[in-house]
Amino acid sequence: MGMRVGWTLCLGLLVATTAWTVQSQFVPADNLLIACGAPASVTDNGRVFMGDGTTLTNPTLDAPGAVVGSTTVPNANLANPKLVQQARIFTANSSYTFTVTPGRHFVRLYFFPFVFTSFSPNSSMFSVTANQYRLLNDFKPAVYSTDARPLVFKEYSLNVSDSTLVLNFDPSGTSYAFINAIEVVSMPDDVVPDRAISLTQLGAVATWGSANTALEMMYHVNVGGPSVSPQNDSAGLYRTWQADDGYIFSAALGQPTYQPATTIVYPLPLTESIAPQSVYQSCRTMGPTTTANAIFNLTWIFPIDLGYTYFVRLHFCELLSSTIGQRIFNIYVNNQTAENGIDVISKTGHADYAMYRDYLIRMETPGATKLWVQVGPAASSVSAIRDALLNGIEIWKLNTTQGSLATGVGIAAPAGDGGSSNVKTFVGAGVGGAAALALVAGLIFFFCYKKKNKGLNPAKSKKHAPPAWLPLPHHGMSNTMSTASYKSGTGSYVSTVQGSNLGRYFTFAELQEATNNFDESLILGVGGFGKVFKGEIDDGTKVAVKRGNPCSEQGLTEFQTEIELLSKLRHRHLVSLIGYCEEHSEMILVYDYMANGPLRGHLYGTEIPPIGWKQRLEICIGAARGLHYLHTGAAQGIIHRDVKTTNILLDENLVAKVADFGLSKTGPSLEQTHISTAVKGSFGYLDPEYFRRQQLTEKSDVYSFGVVLMEVLCARPAINPALSRDQVNLAEWALQKQKQGLLETIMDPKLVGMCTPESVRKFGETAEKCLQEQGSDRPAMGDVLWNLEHALQLHEAAMQAEQPNLMDASAPMVSSLMPPPMLSHPLDDDDDGSSESSERHILGSDDEDLEDASASAVFSQLVNPQGR
Ligand SMILES: *[C@@H]1O[C@H](CO)[C@@H](O)[C@H](O)[C@H]1NC(C)=O
Ligand SMILES: *[C@@H]1O[C@H](CO)[C@@H](O)[C@H](O)[C@H]1NC(C)=O
Ligand SMILES: *[C@@H]1O[C@H](CO)[C@@H](O)[C@H](O)[C@H]1NC(C)=O
Ligand SMILES: *[C@@H]1O[C@H](CO)[C@@H](O)[C@H](O)[C@H]1NC(C)=O
Ligand SMILES: *[C@@H]1O[C@H](CO)[C@@H](O)[C@H](O)[C@H]1NC(C)=O
Ligand SMILES: *[C@@H]1O[C@H](CO)[C@@H](O)[C@H](O)[C@H]1NC(C)=O
Ligand SMILES: *[C@@H]1O[C@H](CO)[C@@H](O)[C@H](O)[C@H]1NC(C)=O
Repeated sequence: MGMRVGWTLCLGLLVATTAWTVQSQFVPADNLLIACGAPASVTDNGRVFMGDGTTLTNPTLDAPGAVVGSTTVPNANLANPKLVQQARIFTANSSYTFTVTPGRHFVRLYFFPFVFTSFSPNSSMFSVTANQYRLLNDFKPAVYSTDARPLVFKEYSLNVSDSTLVLNFDPSGTSYAFINAIEVVSMPDDVVPDRAISLTQLGAVATWGSANTALEMMYHVNVGGPSVSPQNDSAGLYRTWQADDGYIFSAALGQPTYQPATTIVYPLPLTESIAPQSVYQSCRTMGPTTTANAIFNLTWIFPIDLGYTYFVRLHFCELLSSTIGQRIFNIYVNNQTAENGIDVISKTGHADYAMYRDYLIRMETPGATKLWVQVGPAASSVSAIRDALLNGIEIWKLNTTQGSLATGVGIAAPAGDGGSSNVKTFVGAGVGGAAALALVAGLIFFFCYKKKNKGLNPAKSKKHAPPAWLPLPHHGMSNTMSTASYKSGTGSYVSTVQGSNLGRYFTFAELQEATNNFDESLILGVGGFGKVFKGEIDDGTKVAVKRGNPCSEQGLTEFQTEIELLSKLRHRHLVSLIGYCEEHSEMILVYDYMANGPLRGHLYGTEIPPIGWKQRLEICIGAARGLHYLHTGAAQGIIHRDVKTTNILLDENLVAKVADFGLSKTGPSLEQTHISTAVKGSFGYLDPEYFRRQQLTEKSDVYSFGVVLMEVLCARPAINPALSRDQVNLAEWALQKQKQGLLETIMDPKLVGMCTPESVRKFGETAEKCLQEQGSDRPAMGDVLWNLEHALQLHEAAMQAEQPNLMDASAPMVSSLMPPPMLSHPLDDDDDGSSESSERHILGSDDEDLEDASASAVFSQLVNPQGR
């Protein structure tokens, strides 16, 4: 069972880059504000709306028989009385034509129904279109106007692809249309993204072709804080953010927090356009009672129109804690799990940093006219406190395939041809949120979508479908595809490596046969990405088959990286890639089979007999050689980023091979000394300097390798939360012992009597150098290699001496210093979020799988510890 571990791809901590600069303020290219029916300009809350009764050149008005109406009846419930006390009344098909800069715009419409002469608003019914989009259909503003909220306000976002926006008002039958004010304002591109995590096709990322999709703003909610007026929105955007009081279900249970004095940081690529400071400065958490928190979700309920796809953006900012693992929660949209195990701090890296997540959901179940947004604590054993948090909610409606946003039209759309059928799906990756945005650039390389018209190219789509998640045509296959079919699957790729040979292409059927149809009894390992099976190909060659879980949110990028790197690298101490398969949205890699599995299984936690000191040294030397080759062998050095004992595999002769290049990065070129990147890696192995500064160098691998060395010597996990606080983190603890000259007191008792003090001393010194705080103080991998070889020589020389001076049982071996027996789930019964647990500064577990998967995968594994 120990061999289950190891072949995993790992995302580890995902932390947004802190490289932020002074926010460049958004200045809208177009800011066309019109007071309809007004004889002169009207100033509303500091903004000047031009009266369309003056001679306007932009927009132009084509309104045969239009009437200008006005009212003098005061209405105390109007926020903009002067702006809307007059109206333009249309008795025939009429339009405003705006000349704009192409791009996405807010279009805002103000309707204030009032009686004017014979025009009674009760009899006003009309349709509104904006270019090709139907915004409103047989719309009766009076129906939506109440005494408390007399103004009917509609906000849309649409891309004007050329420079003309025609806003058309068409009275229904013999009725009339009216409008009080119009805004057409340019929008920054990042406010409406092109893709989000699809909850209709779980786990997939969908894009809705934002270039030609219009959206209707349904809700902008500032959770836990005051409503934000347009003047107090991010400069230039003038959105209104409502307080969440009207939407929170059982408000008494939640606890609002508002910290107006806190300055929110927007890590790039976020800008303040995403949401104003005040949205992130306030949040709602569940409350102080941990036990109560365990049994409910914070719930917000929003009435929506059936038959449309909705884009839901949730804003998060941890204001109350800056520690990873404190508040880990799940997100549900429409009673469906949107994401598990979200830890805002682990995503942003800091308190007061903004992030958001984007989801797409199609609402079509009859009767389900309310959209539920919920957050609730992840299972009890995971976070230090059982709590959840939310700062802001945006809900936008997407137009149907026919371009309509009008209420009721969505339902009427022919079955199967609603908004979502046009939503292209990128299988297997997740986007949304500050950190994930950093991955978007990478994603662009592989997005593929399910072809709408599958019958288009039946012969080719079957067996030799292009490897849609690969940026490259694979060897020998490009000939078999027509250019057209290749393009349709891969038109969006950017080819990064031209003409390289990615190894053998396997068909899915071949791999089914090789693995006895993915027989569970052949599983070698399970990780965040999927399962690894033992298989046999051709003449009985044993292989390891890594099958990506198509629902895995993290996989694509890592998969792609691994293929690209491994196909270029060949080394005795690197695992070899034999080939891959991409069919039926499967992502499968085929490697050399490593008969002896991961190094960790030979150290502790399994039934495998532990290996001796000489073998351990040789394995460390092999792994060091592999890493040294990675750092220096390739034209541009490669940084592994996830060095750990489960990523060092042993073949049948116990030769070490470095595996799992999913997180690797090509090293800095000569001019740079580091790569700035989001922090990834595994708990317990992460270079503290990298964590702090997000600057990746080869020395980060050296640090992780230092942890591996300590693990090899001490035979315990890098993180073991079952131990006392000073011992949880192996790197810290072993370094402290090494500095005190007491390292041998914590070494693996099974080594006692088998190793020589000289070589252990050399080994300890080497590990200590690797674990230096500053990367510049750490040796290069080549030096590490040299020192380890020296340690081996010392050992061999001593063994050949007549009376080897072996460390024996009489050496000071204080048993109380040894790790206590492992507990299966040490955090489990931590019922009240006690101070002990909240002090825990690193979340971890003694579980052998823990460091192998992404933070969220870790949590879901803990939540769902099946199979152990
Ligand atoms: C109203 O006018 C617009 C253009 O001004 C035109 O495209 C549309 O078809 C007209 N609608 C009707 C019902 O005539
Ligand atoms: C419009 O209709 C509502 C409800 O039918 C009615 O209460 C109201 O008095 C009407 N208003 C006018 C101006 O006729
Ligand atoms: C708007 O549409 C044009 C043309 O379709 C496209 O090139 C552009 O990228 C779109 N802009 C946005 C912000 O979607
Ligand atoms: C904007 O915010 C400030 C302080 O947060 C508040 O005093 C002011 O009234 C707000 N302005 C508007 C127009 O709501
Ligand atoms: C979500 O679940 C609750 C409680 O089970 C139910 O009342 C509600 O209708 C569900 N909402 C949706 C949108 O399905
Ligand atoms: C929270 O909401 C989700 C989705 O509606 C539901 O499955 C889960 O049981 C809820 N949790 C609690 C503790 O009520
Ligand atoms: C929105 O409408 C346009 C047609 O005007 C269409 O091309 C586009 O696909 C629609 N968007 C979605 C998400 O269906």
